[in-house]
Amino acid sequence: MKPSFENLFKQRLRSSLGDISNLYNSVYALHPQGQQCFSQLLETIERAFTLRSDVLKQRDVEKLQTEPVHWFLSNELCGMSLYVDRFCGSISELKNKLDYFEKLGVNFLHLMPLFQSPENESDGGYAVSDFRKVDKRFGTLEELKQLEEEMRRRNMYLMLDIVLNHTSDRHAWALKAKQGNKQYQDYFYFFDDRTEPDEFEKSMPEIFPEAAPGNFTFIKECSKWVMTVFHHYQWDLNYTNPKVFLEMMDNIFFYANLGVDVLRVDAPAFIWKEKGTACQNLPQAHTLLQLIKQCVQAATPGMALLGEAIVAPHEIMKYFGAGDKEAKECDFAYNATQMALQWDALATGDTRVMMAAQHELLKKPFGTSWITYTRCHDDIGLGYDDYMIGHAGYNPVAHRKFLKDYYSGNYSGSPARGALFGVNEKTGDARISGSLASLCGLEAALEKNDAAAIDESVKKILLMQAMGFFIGGIPMLFYGDESAHTNDYTYLHDESKDYDNRWMHRPVIDWEKNSDVDKPGTVEHIIFSGTQKLIQIRKKLGVIADKKNLTWLRPHNIHVTGLLRAWDNERVYCLFNFSRHPQRLTWKVFKENALSPRRLYDYWSETFFEVKKDNEYFILPPYMFFILEPR
Ligand code: GLC
Repeated sequence: MKPSFENLFKQRLRSSLGDISNLYNSVYALHPQGQQCFSQLLETIERAFTLRSDVLKQRDVEKLQTEPVHWFLSNELCGMSLYVDRFCGSISELKNKLDYFEKLGVNFLHLMPLFQSPENESDGGYAVSDFRKVDKRFGTLEELKQLEEEMRRRNMYLMLDIVLNHTSDRHAWALKAKQGNKQYQDYFYFFDDRTEPDEFEKSMPEIFPEAAPGNFTFIKECSKWVMTVFHHYQWDLNYTNPKVFLEMMDNIFFYANLGVDVLRVDAPAFIWKEKGTACQNLPQAHTLLQLIKQCVQAATPGMALLGEAIVAPHEIMKYFGAGDKEAKECDFAYNATQMALQWDALATGDTRVMMAAQHELLKKPFGTSWITYTRCHDDIGLGYDDYMIGHAGYNPVAHRKFLKDYYSGNYSGSPARGALFGVNEKTGDARISGSLASLCGLEAALEKNDAAAIDESVKKILLMQAMGFFIGGIPMLFYGDESAHTNDYTYLHDESKDYDNRWMHRPVIDWEKNSDVDKPGTVEHIIFSGTQKLIQIRKKLGVIADKKNLTWLRPHNIHVTGLLRAWDNERVYCLFNFSRHPQRLTWKVFKENALSPRRLYDYWSETFFEVKKDNEYFILPPYMFFILEPR
């Protein structure tokens, strides 16, 4: 007899309970309400299971059966991240666009925040005023449920956000706190005067130094200061209070029971604060994420967690869990380091900085994975370590300045069209905004009507996408990139957006123009069909599933980076030329991993190559890549 869902839940809870208790108590044991909240946490877990539909419980069982290689490691997944309103208007209309995703091959959707947030102060939906009410701009909760059902019917997966670190200042908790309610003031970091905020400021960096300098905001209604690390209207939740953890855990389960397959945990690096620190990546933040993972594992195990920590390479690894919690924290993280390093290599034509970072990235534990991407709704930060730049022989300060100039139009000869974001005059830091197409030179090339430049930018776009498709992890396209959308400057005429140039790469899709994806000869068609082909190749190659099976090939040529994916009897070599010139690579490169292929089939160009002698060369055209299988 098959065990009932109920029995399976009890088994899972039993095996997680020790960890749940230890993790919880390591943070909250001494809190006056600690034990009372612990009992409530157990009730919350039970209730989440009880409220879960049988359909989702059945799906949990099926997902768990793919062990030991988790369902989410599959090479058959390919995602897209999009703003529902800017993509197609509404949730109900998105249901009509599922055919479009299927045509492209995308089967995993990240819908940018859909829950209620104030129209003019929403940070793109990341300032939530009600975690359970779909904002009427997008539609209704009922429509979201219908969309999820239809996606499930089509074997598509859904990712939504939980904005864990803060609420909007219009959230009910914040409104009560403003009115002087002490219980709700304790949900946030409130201070009577500047003494403690000034202490904190000594070591806290600024996230949006131009639009939102400082980390605290004065609340005139109650004459107090509140911590606001992001914008002044985003109030940081106080996770030293176990009630806050409980409430947010309950919200996490609410999303799980909507049928979310991957929950994007927004800004988890920030959830624990301590004076004298940068208030990022603190050990307690990891403990709380591990606790969330264990609770989810018990009640709603079909939901994986993505930690949106955009942090230095050595810090990112900790979000997968360390020590006895290895692979027991977030299932996914963004490979932001790799993403930024691809932009680095594209600007310099030199892959050495990218290679210098790989020893860190290879530490990712088995059973966890990356979200790989070239662009998302946020800026590109050059957050990799100075020593990696030094390793390639560059001066870190001059090198970063070059990259920022190159992508923001301050370097003559650069075809890229982007802008600097988050410029910090004090530290000299800045990040980069701009769409994939514009940063790859398409906008400038189209303006000049320069066929050669258009061709070059198209090659760059596909090269950038291709690397993320084969390096391991789920590729996450950003909407509009599949149809070559360049920067959208209309945000400059919108008061609620003009202070944030990230909106330039968050286009409003013009479906009339988008229909060019079906017209051979158009740039839109070349990019769309190229992306479609990349997805098809990826789906064919089981060896591309992320099983920690990546080996970097010896760098015989600094302009070319190459990797080998291997599993059982399958082998695939992937080569990427980041240079604007043809590059030569000795055939020896294919024989250095105890392999001796005779013939290689390239899935991209659909051609065969005979492997030649070591003193002969394989030629890679400018910005070209190869996905080669020994045959
Ligand atoms: C994340 C989001 C970003 C947002 C921030 C604050 O980094 O990706 O868009 O501004 O969190 O919620």
